[in-house]
Amino acid sequence: MMKKIGMLTSGGDCQALNAAMRGVVKTILNASQEVEIYGFINGYRGLIYGDYRMLSHSDFSGILTKGGTILGSSRTPFKTIREPDENGLDKVEAMKHNYYKLNLDCLVILGGNGTHKTANLLREEGLNIVTLPKTIDNDLWGTDMTFGFQSAVDIATSAIDCIHTTAASHGRVFIVEIMGHKVGWLPLNAGMAGGADIILIPEIPYDIEKIVKAIEHRHQRGSQFTILAVAEGAISKKDAGLSKKDYKEKLKNSPYPSVSYEIAAQIQERTGQDVRVTVPGHTQRGGSPCPYDRVFASRLGSEAGKLIMKGEYGFMVGIRNREIVKVPLEEVAGKLKTLDPDASIIKEAKMLGISFGD
Ligand code: F6P
Repeated sequence: MMKKIGMLTSGGDCQALNAAMRGVVKTILNASQEVEIYGFINGYRGLIYGDYRMLSHSDFSGILTKGGTILGSSRTPFKTIREPDENGLDKVEAMKHNYYKLNLDCLVILGGNGTHKTANLLREEGLNIVTLPKTIDNDLWGTDMTFGFQSAVDIATSAIDCIHTTAASHGRVFIVEIMGHKVGWLPLNAGMAGGADIILIPEIPYDIEKIVKAIEHRHQRGSQFTILAVAEGAISKKDAGLSKKDYKEKLKNSPYPSVSYEIAAQIQERTGQDVRVTVPGHTQRGGSPCPYDRVFASRLGSEAGKLIMKGEYGFMVGIRNREIVKVPLEEVAGKLKTLDPDASIIKEAKMLGISFGD
């Protein structure tokens, strides 16, 4: 029987979105199942406003290695999903209306945390949903890894590698600010892979005096330079003690563009050393997916294709203990997968002499 599938990619993009969608479609076609694919443009926005295009099999050809998303993406905050748009349109009702109008069998939704909250809401509203976990932040609950993460680790690591040679020539302190939103998976892994001396992550608030000590200690032992991998969400012990509101206020009034610049100024003031900040920013989400992500996203896509053919809905396809698994959406939505400060990887990093500024 013909399947009618809607597809969308929502939130910040990442590598291997196309590989994952290709995996879904290839699996269904390979089983000689007839399928019609409706690609919604720019995430939930396309579903809300009925902006879609029919995708043919050839659209999924040659995209395994292609970065970004052939469907485009946008952020549609969950916080305001129940609020009418500027023309009074009920967004949730509009999404349901378009789903039923097109007579879809299901929606395949690729996204991170926010996307999963809305996906779960649509499931609660009665739509058939299968999701795939994308984000360079790796902060999605229910899966050991998200696709995009390993590719971003590669890019962030390359940034640290490049800094290493120049840091050694100049004998300076270098900070590389790494994405990851509110969690430290990406900065920790790239920091370790790039041989950073100090790694600061949101899960372990730092004390600037400890950072200075670690730099001085390196100096005394003859190292002329220090490299810090700083999470964009890194937070000092002092700031971690503030209320959410006061912390927001502090950031709003801060003269620094990001936490790395604040740390740089504090180190410069305390040590007299030259400090430079590098922010690889969105390059971490860009370019072609790494081989791991191509394989991983294809596996996830394939499992999603299988679920669709069996008519099993309401799941995110993820990975646990190296096995591809389906996880009920209600278990995933609204939970953040943070790093445990007592995790063995942190202990091992500390044994290697890496300082976390704590
Ligand atoms: O969630 C992915 C991510 O790249 C985060 O690491 C980062 O905090 C955020 O998105 C940046 O968002 P935007 O692309 O909207 O600037």
